[in-house]
This record gives sequence, structure tokens and C-alpha cells, in this order.
Amino acid sequence: MLRVSDLHVSYGRVTAVRGINVCVRPGAVSLMLGANGAGKTTTLRAIAGLHPPESGEITMEDQHLERRSADRVVTAGVVLVPEGRRVFGPLTVEENLRLGGYTAPRDSVARELERIYEIFPILAERRHGPAGLLSGGEQQMLAFGRALMSQPKVMLMDEPSMGLAPAIVDKVLTQVRAIADSGIGVLMVEQNAKAALEVADDAVVVARGEVVFSGTAEEARSHSSVVLAFLGETALEQGA
Ligand SMILES: Nc1ncnc2c1ncn2[C@@H]1O[C@H](COP(=O)(O)OP(=O)(O)OP(=O)(O)O)[C@@H](O)[C@H]1O
Ligand SMILES: [Mg+2]
Repeated sequence: MLRVSDLHVSYGRVTAVRGINVCVRPGAVSLMLGANGAGKTTTLRAIAGLHPPESGEITMEDQHLERRSADRVVTAGVVLVPEGRRVFGPLTVEENLRLGGYTAPRDSVARELERIYEIFPILAERRHGPAGLLSGGEQQMLAFGRALMSQPKVMLMDEPSMGLAPAIVDKVLTQVRAIADSGIGVLMVEQNAKAALEVADDAVVVARGEVVFSGTAEEARSHSSVVLAFLGETALEQGA
């Protein structure tokens, strides 16, 4: 279980995250919703060791992560799938996957590659081609695959459906659900609130760096007016 308690993160004098609490259970999808600038990406990056928090606790099982470097967060079992996928276009699909396995024991890399090719057969087909030629949805599979190479216990996903065609959004969210069903805990940020709530177990809504709603995904769906008010838009109507 990943536990984030009273997290505060600042950029200079600007405090972007002020007291966020969130838990990620093995096999469950925790969804983080919130308007632009609410502090969602900042939260994920702080957990991933990319931006040190000012205060608060981040624990994975019994290990404290809040002062660890990004690679040591990965070795603790927590990996970030960043916004915009960030695949390396000129490298092949397989080279991108191998980058994700850099913290894993060498003898497990080949086995992990095969496992990921079974989950995402299209990546096996394209393994020797440049990642830049994949479609958006395929690049998202590659981003998931690259993260899975580190054999994580928790995956942090920043807007995995961003920029994808509506038909592909559901496919990506189904993959997120399948990843969780394999036992991995998922903390996912999504703008596609309605579709994402369908695959989530828990939901938190963040506004101006604070949690303003925390409950089950079902509660979030039934309190949709509360959630909507904080999202500020017609987020629950999107992608209906
Ligand atoms: N590198 C930075 N330097 C200074 N301020 C930043 C930086 N990155 C983010 N911020 C500020 O921190 C706040 C939270 O930003 P963050 O990117 O975490 O929001 P978000 O919830 O992910 O928004 P979005 O939905 O647009 O992705 C915003 O006010 C933003 O302007
Ligand atoms: Mg963001």
C-alpha cells in the first residue's frame, strides 16, 4: 500500500500542494480529479521523487520515500507514467522498453519483455521499429509497458488518455483496469472524469492543492454535482 499523508509541495514561494492525503491499495485504481492547476501533476511528481516535497510523508509498505531520488523510488516499486507519454521516438519499441528495465536485475529483463509482448501484442509486432511511428494509443501502451518493465507495485499515471481519440480512450482505460487487476495499485490523474470513474475504485478530487472530496468511485458518481463543482466544467458529460 502506498500512503501519502499531509503532502506539501512548493515551487519557490508558491505552494502548489497543501496537505494532500491519498492511499493506493494493491489491485485498485485510485482516481485523482481536479481542475487545471489543482496540483495533480505536482503530487505525482513528488511521489515519484522528481520534486522533493516540503513536508509530509510518502510511504510504500514500511519504506519512507519522501527524500528518495527518482531511481530509488522506482526500486521501492513505485513508477510514474508521465503526462504526454514521453516515448523516445527515434529509439525502437524494444529499446524504449529496455530503458524501463534499467533498475531490474539483468536476468529478468528478457522475461519481462516477453511478458509485456504478451500483454500488448502490437508492441511485439513493432519491436524493431521506431517508437515515433506508433499511433497515440500504441505509444500509451509503450509507456505502460516501459513502466511495467520495472516490475512495479504501484503505477502513477498522469492523464493517460490525453490527446487520444474517444474510441481509444476507453481502450486505454480498460488497459488501466487490467493492470490493476494484475495486482498493481494505480494512482491515475484523468480529465475524462466520467469514463475514468467507470474503471476506478476510489476517487479524490483536488482543488487548489487540497483534497475536497475523498471516497469510493461509486460515491463520486452519485455525488456528481459536488465533483462537478470542483472540476468547474462539464467534465462528467465529456466522453459519455
Ligand atoms: N515548474 C513549476 N514552477 C512553478 N510553478 C509551477 C510549476 N509547475 C506547476 N506549477 C504551478 O503549480 C500549480 C499546480 O500545477 P500542476 O501542474 O500540479 O497542476 P495539475 O493539477 O496537474 O493541472 P493540469 O490539469 O493543467 O495538468 C499550478 O498553479 C502551476 O501553475
Ligand atoms: Mg497536470
